[in-house]
Amino acid sequence: MKKSLFLSGDSIEVLAPMAGITDGNFCRAMSSYGFDVVTLGGYNADKPSMEAGCRIIERGRPEFKFDDLVSHVEEQIRIVKDQNPWNGAVSVNLRTTSSEPVIKVSKLKNVDMVEINAHCRQPELVESGCGQVLLFNIPKLHDLVEEVVKNADCKVSVKVRANVAGVNDLEVAEAIENAGADYLHVDAMKPGFDHADYNIIRKIKANTDIFLVGNNSIRDLESARKMLDAGADGISIARAAIDGTIPFDLSAI
Ligand SMILES: Cc1cc2nc3c(=O)[nH]c(=O)nc-3n(C[C@H](O)[C@H](O)[C@H](O)COP(=O)(O)O)c2cc1C
Repeated sequence: MKKSLFLSGDSIEVLAPMAGITDGNFCRAMSSYGFDVVTLGGYNADKPSMEAGCRIIERGRPEFKFDDLVSHVEEQIRIVKDQNPWNGAVSVNLRTTSSEPVIKVSKLKNVDMVEINAHCRQPELVESGCGQVLLFNIPKLHDLVEEVVKNADCKVSVKVRANVAGVNDLEVAEAIENAGADYLHVDAMKPGFDHADYNIIRKIKANTDIFLVGNNSIRDLESARKMLDAGADGISIARAAIDGTIPFDLSAI
């Protein structure tokens, strides 16, 4: 039985994942800024991604450290939600090559959303078959998402990076929609620019009906509105929140 998720307002505002930063304490603090969804992680969730994480740690990136995933997520969710008068949702961003760990996390108490990571591009993760490399194998991505959607007990989001050379963004979006995901979270990165690629958001919106969360370089009201005007149903923010505050009023969007 899927847990329901009630999000208020015309658009939703999401705190995007930042590995090593968006833990329970950070997400709890950010919930007071009016986010509808805060995202924990990303976490390495299966054996190949965990082994890749170990190799990344060896080259000095401790944020890829993993504990026991289930107990870690349970503890972070408790920190975000316990005695916190906030009606928002908690999402968990997961790097994986297989559906099982995502399904397992979806069944944990108070997990409102699991997010399949088709975004991270550290070479070790890509070699392990998770993160951005999933965009190059659309049938595999489709089947992974479909399997999670069929068995998860909460909403399912998929986070993708746009404008990756050799990837057809629209085919990716359509496959994720066809697999039944509830949310498509697009990092509309435009290489060489300090603003998002609003055209890719327009194009995905024109060709799909999936709930679209637009991400990249949202740092003020103007960039947030541009993302929504391009057709996103919600926006997400990472770097503009990295110091633990938001430089503009989310309720004014
Ligand atoms: C320090 C840091 C860690 C990140 N870790 C993750 C991650 O684990 N999973 C993921 O999907 N995206 C991750 N991202 C990407 C962000 O969620 C976001 O897509 C990207 O920074 C662009 O959005 P922004 O312009 O609002 O920062 C990370 C970004 C930063 C800055």
